[in-house]
Amino acid sequence: MEVGIIGQGYVGLTIAAFASKHHKVIGFDTNFESVTQLNKGISHIEGVASEVIAAAIKIGNYRATTNVSDISNTDVVVIAVPTPLTMDRKPDLSFIDSACRSIGSSLNKRALIINESTSFPGTLRNHIKPLIEKYSKKDLDHLYAISPERVDPGRTDWNQKNTPRLYSGLTPEATARTRDFYSSFCDELVEVSTPEVAEAAKLFENTFRQVNIALVNELAEISHALGISIHETLDAANTKPYGFMKFNPSAGVGGHCIPVDPSYLAYVAAEKGVPATFIERANEVNLEMPKYIVDRVRIDNGGSLKNKLVQVIGVAYKPDVADVRETPAELVIKELQEQGAFVSWHDPIVKVWHGEESSPLGGAEISIVVTLHSEMNVSAVLQSAPYVFDTTGKIIGARGL
Ligand SMILES: NC(=O)c1ccc[n+]([C@@H]2O[C@H](COP(=O)([O-])OP(=O)(O)OC[C@H]3O[C@@H](n4cnc5c(N)ncnc54)[C@H](O)[C@@H]3O)[C@@H](O)[C@H]2O)c1
Repeated sequence: MEVGIIGQGYVGLTIAAFASKHHKVIGFDTNFESVTQLNKGISHIEGVASEVIAAAIKIGNYRATTNVSDISNTDVVVIAVPTPLTMDRKPDLSFIDSACRSIGSSLNKRALIINESTSFPGTLRNHIKPLIEKYSKKDLDHLYAISPERVDPGRTDWNQKNTPRLYSGLTPEATARTRDFYSSFCDELVEVSTPEVAEAAKLFENTFRQVNIALVNELAEISHALGISIHETLDAANTKPYGFMKFNPSAGVGGHCIPVDPSYLAYVAAEKGVPATFIERANEVNLEMPKYIVDRVRIDNGGSLKNKLVQVIGVAYKPDVADVRETPAELVIKELQEQGAFVSWHDPIVKVWHGEESSPLGGAEISIVVTLHSEMNVSAVLQSAPYVFDTTGKIIGARGL
């Protein structure tokens, strides 16, 4: 099959890497720089090796493009564009809208269009399909399906091949063709009765994580007030063989999914007049963590951070990725600056952030570890300052959550 993938970021390029083993893939992206690099066989996404892209190019199964008319004769089109929040934390479907315009106006033949971008139930049926039809040149009667993406960047044990994949089409033909497409590179496919079930399941998976992370963050505050270790408490609870799942406290949630997707569910709940109390409270608790952490550091350091040199270590939102989207490190730095500290940051993977280079490890009076990458030397981190506060629970001997 000839497959067009709209968006060559974390999701789109990961799909391209797997699909290009069996199909001819055209990766369309509006980012000229990424496209140029990809066509040289250079991947910009951790978890997608440059060698894989180079090998797919070599056998003629992959090319990237900024020219949308290159997807005009594809059999399958996969949408993998961002679905962020607006400033007032409402779903921002503007990238989906522009992808739909591109797809509708460029396709010259009937295609299967699959949405992998995360959005609220009803997006495929009530938003994507009508929009593509509006821009379609001819009455091509495209097929529409959803298959929400579950990729966990940086993870190696679960990938596109062995992670079970949900899918559902708007028609039986769309469902069957979606199954054919993914079965060429996925081991386990799970068909659900409607696209809305698949869309809701994806949102709930990430809402489940967000709420549980907030709950354990709340417990971190309670444990500290009680003078007991949150980590020992969690390990003790985790000896129960059933009915408990361990989550770890942290500076909050980051990335494109966990802080964002629950708000899509809350939005659709509000549209239906149903309260989404847990989701909203979880959001608040996680967003309050950076202030809680900075307050703990301030109290430990004589009650003021004014003019103190503080280094934030690890600014990516999770270990072993360079992704800084929605990173809680940003809020930790902002809070430190508001409290009068001079802040530097160190991250060997992120390297450049907001146009500023990562500073060398150490040299500050206080270190706050937000993310511990596996390439970081734990004892060097522990010795980076006279006072080290660890939000990850992995550095023995440091103060922390
Ligand atoms: N990153 C993850 O871990 C993850 C996991 C599961 C689901 N998702 C979902 O997948 C979707 C994509 O996320 P991502 O992390 O890959 O985003 P990303 O920002 O890494 O990549 C998106 C790419 O789309 C491109 N783009 C934007 N608008 C475009 C357009 N109109 N036409 C062509 N290209 C366009 C951007 O230049 C970018 O390269 C989102 O809905 C996200 O919620 C992400």
